Amino acid sequence: ARAWRGIVEEYRDRLPVTANTPVVTLLEGGTPLVPATRVSELTGCEVYLKVEGLNPTGSFKDRGMTMAISKAAEDGAKAVICASTGNTSASAAAYAVRAGMTCAVLVPQGKIAMGKLAQALVHGARLLQVDGNFDDCLELARKLSIDYPVALVNSVNPFRLQGQKTASFEIVDALGDAPDVHCLPVGNAGNITAYWMGYQEYHSDGSATRLPRMFGFQASGAAPIVNGAPVAQPRTIATAIRIGNPASWRFAEKARDDSDGRIDSVTDRQILAAYRMLAGEEGVFVELASAASVAGLLQSVEAGQIERGSRVVCTVTGNGLKDPDWALAGASSAVTVPVDARAAAAALGLT
Ligand code: F0G
Repeated sequence: ARAWRGIVEEYRDRLPVTANTPVVTLLEGGTPLVPATRVSELTGCEVYLKVEGLNPTGSFKDRGMTMAISKAAEDGAKAVICASTGNTSASAAAYAVRAGMTCAVLVPQGKIAMGKLAQALVHGARLLQVDGNFDDCLELARKLSIDYPVALVNSVNPFRLQGQKTASFEIVDALGDAPDVHCLPVGNAGNITAYWMGYQEYHSDGSATRLPRMFGFQASGAAPIVNGAPVAQPRTIATAIRIGNPASWRFAEKARDDSDGRIDSVTDRQILAAYRMLAGEEGVFVELASAASVAGLLQSVEAGQIERGSRVVCTVTGNGLKDPDWALAGASSAVTVPVDARAAAAALGLT
């Protein structure tokens, strides 16, 4: 076995790179596809988790960022900019360091998880907290990238989706074919678009014999695609997907329709319950937004929209360590004991 080389080298012939593209990488991708015993039991399906929180900066964004930053470097860019609910900014900041570029990030003030803020800052990004939501930040970032010499690395940058499609390749490579159903959270709708692109590519050249049905899940307070209209004031505890006017809206609808899938919403309560279940019963610590995929699967099976016995992959998009507040909120506080085995045993209920 040889070492994993990052998604650009692993899937070079399927990506828009040439010998002249300087590959800026942190060896992203190659993430585990973990069988989900408990979720399988609950649903009667064969369920796997694609654990994207194990990427270098703790989210799936790294797959897209290695492409976006490599192409920006090929183009001679010295600076990049993005709007973000947190993960894109963490990833952009890290890859900009690797490329020797400066990085500017625009985030909605007070609405991003502490760990993500820490990542952007420790990697030296110029961070602006905008008095608005993600949609406002993206509009601002787009304007700045037009009027000033900074490259936009949001998922409206087509190279981002090219990188992100590689997750589908890995899943088919691991399972031997596409699953029946693929579930994932939907925010700006880039990732569902990228996955569908990846599955279609593998299918069209015979690397997969089938195509999955794509199931995307928005938070009920931030569900513009489900409602059929932008949400001016998106609200959800899952701040990563707190988005009211997704940039890849139409592409997500196309992925849904062409795959005979669905885009639905799940409540914050369902998201929180799935988050706790994944941590407490699967041993997989994800961030809140990521749990929307599993919350959605449970709901869809219950509603008879996904057949029992189906083979299902749920992408869990980000690492739980990015936002530990929610883990601590539901936990009992730790007990303090002296350095004494009997006291410790008693406190643990071992006696
Ligand atoms: N899950 C996590 C953890 C995310 O950070 C995001 C998006 C999504 C799901 C949704 O993916 O936007 O492609 O539909 N985060 C972006 C960001 C918006 O700025 O980090 P999507």
